[in-house]
Amino acid sequence: MSIGAPVSRVEGIAKVTGRAKYAADHTPKGTLHAVIVGAPIAAGRVAGIDVDAALAVPGVVRVLTAKDMPRFGEIGPPAAVLSMPMQHDEIRFQGEPVAIVLAESIDAADEARAAVKVRCAPQPPIGLGAGKNEAAPSPRMLGEDLDMGHVDRSLAESKFVVRQSYEQPDRHHNAMETSGTVAQFEDGKLTLWDAVQAGANVPPVVAAALGIDAADIRVIAPHTGGGFGSKGYVWPHQILAAACARIAGRPVKLHLRRQDQYACVGYQPWMLQHVSLGARDDGALTAIDHEIVNSTAIADTHVEPSSEGSKSLYACPAIRTRQLIKRIHINVPTPMRAPVEGPGLWALESAMNELAEQLGMDPLDVRLKNYAEVDPLTGKPWSSKKLREAYDAGARLYGWRTRHQRPREEGPWRIGHGMATCSMGNYRFPGGALVRLKADGSAIIEANTHDIGTGTQTVFCQIAASELGLPVESVSIVWGDTRLHPGGPVYGSSATVGTGSAVALACREIRTKLAALGAGDDPGAILRAAGLEELSASGHFTLPGGAPFNADGADTPHAMRTWGAIFVEVGVDPDLGLVRLRRAVGAYSVGRIINPKTARSQMTGAIIWGWGKATMEGSTQEPNHGGWLAKNLSNVVIPVNADIPTDITIHFVDEYDSHASAIGARGIGELGATGVDAAVAAAVYDAIGVRVRKLPIRLEPLQ
Ligand code: MOS
Repeated sequence: MSIGAPVSRVEGIAKVTGRAKYAADHTPKGTLHAVIVGAPIAAGRVAGIDVDAALAVPGVVRVLTAKDMPRFGEIGPPAAVLSMPMQHDEIRFQGEPVAIVLAESIDAADEARAAVKVRCAPQPPIGLGAGKNEAAPSPRMLGEDLDMGHVDRSLAESKFVVRQSYEQPDRHHNAMETSGTVAQFEDGKLTLWDAVQAGANVPPVVAAALGIDAADIRVIAPHTGGGFGSKGYVWPHQILAAACARIAGRPVKLHLRRQDQYACVGYQPWMLQHVSLGARDDGALTAIDHEIVNSTAIADTHVEPSSEGSKSLYACPAIRTRQLIKRIHINVPTPMRAPVEGPGLWALESAMNELAEQLGMDPLDVRLKNYAEVDPLTGKPWSSKKLREAYDAGARLYGWRTRHQRPREEGPWRIGHGMATCSMGNYRFPGGALVRLKADGSAIIEANTHDIGTGTQTVFCQIAASELGLPVESVSIVWGDTRLHPGGPVYGSSATVGTGSAVALACREIRTKLAALGAGDDPGAILRAAGLEELSASGHFTLPGGAPFNADGADTPHAMRTWGAIFVEVGVDPDLGLVRLRRAVGAYSVGRIINPKTARSQMTGAIIWGWGKATMEGSTQEPNHGGWLAKNLSNVVIPVNADIPTDITIHFVDEYDSHASAIGARGIGELGATGVDAAVAAAVYDAIGVRVRKLPIRLEPLQ
């Protein structure tokens, strides 16, 4: 059985040998290179753009401004930005595209970019300090406000109450491959080589903007060099690249420079969360109150629906959540690994740890006391939930119950321990795949899906191999092209559930056809005996009501989520204000594990990502002028190998979820990044007695 085997990534060799071609590695004959000129100020108006000096640079072909751009048609989600740039003279954020240079070489385009003079009529930008909270718009898919039970009364009557605020900074995805699009029109049809997580999202948006037929747009999305959410929705540069190609009558490559990436695609917003918890003597929760505000753009709206975890994680009779936004002069945020519960659990799980201290209970026992046996909101049974087993396994592997028997100091280091629950929604999108079994005993999967570096193609091959009874080496996959069978997106920790199920269903259809042809264990032999070259079938993973999205089992008899527990040991040097990770254990309840190697890698990476969020990351908006202070990797602090001890232990509870997917799996990837920050803050408190409620936990509060 190749399901359950630690198969190495099928596209790994191509990636590490440089053979893998990314979107911007494609340069059709006659390609023009495009570079965006961003607004130098964050708020105001373009008074004029002087392009003569730029046009004088050898190799420059055009400098396009709002006057040259067509008026785009109305676009909606999955467009990330509904208020397109270069349609007017307003400036809503620093770096907003106001001109595009087209040149024969990237060097010429870049030189000309610096020579474009943008004259501005500035206004004082609204920053975080001046922005006003307003109710988040509804309807929303996630993050709907909730008022269940009697929260205020329960809090007033509770003996133990925690009321605290938790803050986290803006953070950027910073995928290694910056976003980019190569656009080519041929005979009225448009081809886009595009760095995306969901190629099928692109044609409808570009078609609506340009007034062409979506069926005439082909999106080729070869290897994707990371995304983390930043390549999920459709961003203006994809539309602009296509518009430039049409205007110029030549292929156009618009590969965002690192600094342009900061303004042209999204990031995780700044958030302030207020949490109140009430509890009885025995630790049982009486109320959860969770209010969230996230920053967003003036003209576009991102709601970070981080109240979801508070609605589902603990059995509690009174739960109230409220989502607010604050509009400022900045580009619009977007989901970033792990969205929703990532920020939400920073607040909820930190408050749970503070409550445990008030109660004089072990933080793990407070969680066990409030274990949600059924979905607190709907009362529905879970599709499968083995969080109790995950708590037990994690605590055992960590030595949680005996933690304080370990040394509490080591040289200058004070040592502390912390834990938190992990949880993510179980997001499902429709999936599809075509599987072709050949008479030589090989099989090919064809699906318009992607691999952002998580190993999805490998997992799909394993599923097909297991279902067809073939060695995994005999299965290959073709992906990343809208001409292929529709697959599914690669975000929301949903690809294995959606497209993976579709692969399984296609293979089961082939097995049925095979059974009608003859008996035997060798599918290739059955085909040969029947005189057939190939047997193919498509599989489709669908959702209730044919919906394009399903969160947490809505409209089904079961509630579905993923869970886990994270335990961390930190060392704090209060003299130098240093905090270091010493070890971590994560244990998870996520359904069946298809590939323990890629799954472990996902969770290890997620915990490291969580450590980065807890102690390092943060993008700062300059308070007077409104731009991002750092726009390149040299100023981005993220964990490197030296920051991470080898001792990260990952455990998956043995589980099969027959309700969530056709293969027993739920989602994995983003779950591991939830709760880590709260566990780290708890460990810091355990080490030196300082509660930090603002991320990242850097030098100042530790000294
Ligand atoms: Mo992730 S934010 O769903 O790529």
